[in-house]
Amino acid sequence: MSKKVSITVKVNGEVFKADVESRMLLIDFLRDVLGLTGTKKGCDEGKCGACTILFNGSAVKSCLMFAVQADGSEIITIEGLSKEGKLHPLQEEFMKNIAIQCGYCTAGMIMVAYNLLKLYPKINEDEIRKGISGNLCRCTGYVNIVKAILSAAHRCEK
Ligand code: FES
Ligand code: FES
Repeated sequence: MSKKVSITVKVNGEVFKADVESRMLLIDFLRDVLGLTGTKKGCDEGKCGACTILFNGSAVKSCLMFAVQADGSEIITIEGLSKEGKLHPLQEEFMKNIAIQCGYCTAGMIMVAYNLLKLYPKINEDEIRKGISGNLCRCTGYVNIVKAILSAAHRCEK
């Protein structure tokens, strides 16, 4: 049996302390220990992007990290994007533009887009396509996802 390690992590503004198995993946910690099931587990090997979160300000695939590596870090998950009951413009635009079908990729897609808009507020369509290229969607064909991100970028710029 692997030994437990004590970690402290700030997730969506709240500090959590937990004892975790040293081999526990960060995605499993978020979903199974903290109950933040908005982050999805797809391939579990860094290929689909469904598990994307913000880790110390950068978009990372949480299936590629151990929970113990998150000790002392600050994480934002899809649950942390809405403020005072109001959805983030990206969440609203994904709904408005019908950029969601089965929804499995959506949380990861929105988190990677959130990071892109933070880094490049004046982002264009080509840059969005490049920026989300590590996140797979098996349903939509990406057209409406790109439209939604572009609309959110225009809204956030104002
Ligand atoms: S579940 Fe992490 S990249 Fe697919
Ligand atoms: S909406 Fe189904 S995988 Fe993207």
